[in-house]
Amino acid sequence: MENHKLYLYPVWLRVWHGINAICIIILMFTGLSMQYGNIDYPLIPFKTSVSLHNFCGVVASVGFIVFIVGNFLSDNGIHYRFKIRGLYKRFYKQIMYYASGYFKGEPKPYPISEEFKFNPLQRVSYAIAMYVLMPLVIFSGIGLLYPELIVEKIFNIGGVQLTALLHSIMGFFIAFFLLIHLYVASIGKNPLRNYKSIISGYHESD
Ligand code: HEM
Repeated sequence: MENHKLYLYPVWLRVWHGINAICIIILMFTGLSMQYGNIDYPLIPFKTSVSLHNFCGVVASVGFIVFIVGNFLSDNGIHYRFKIRGLYKRFYKQIMYYASGYFKGEPKPYPISEEFKFNPLQRVSYAIAMYVLMPLVIFSGIGLLYPELIVEKIFNIGGVQLTALLHSIMGFFIAFFLLIHLYVASIGKNPLRNYKSIISGYHESD
């Protein structure tokens, strides 16, 4: 079978992705350390966690603006749009492939092309991660950085408390997304192939 290369990840996207990945990993560790670390035996000293968390949060937020503007100005944003109609069928096909077809060596139901670089599950999960989870974690993070911006009480519960809760829940969802993202990216004939693509920009077909 012919093996050809597709240029799917332009430089700006790869730079954003690399910086974002590093920031999110640091944010996860510092966030967990601040939330659950023992003050006497912390995984990371509390003050270091706070400074690193704030710094990476700001960098990831600026990166997020770059991502949104980049998607808006280039064709990349097209890959994040999806129609609700027929979604269930497309999900089912892709899930069946991951659960069984892949292990039987069946062809991909949605082969990668320049027009469709994501399968339906990737398309929806990336859209949710980037257009729902990231904005919510960023806006709640800004609220925690500047508590004076937050309303004092919502239904008699402290605004800061609710914002902190929203921030942690979104953080956990992003960590969960990352776990699945790393696993799904390793599916294929060569588990490292997709990781190489997001660095080189080129996707090699099977
Ligand atoms: C160590 C961390 C990470 C690694 C190794 C990694 C790996 C990859 C790989 C291999 C791809 C290209 C193949 C594919 O689409 O599945 C990709 C794309 C992508 N990743 Fe990650 N990723 C990481 C962290 C993250 C994080 C933290 C986010 C968001 C919160 C993220 C969001 C995305 C998005 C949105 C794309 C698609 C970009 C596009 O083509 O428009 N990744 N990643």
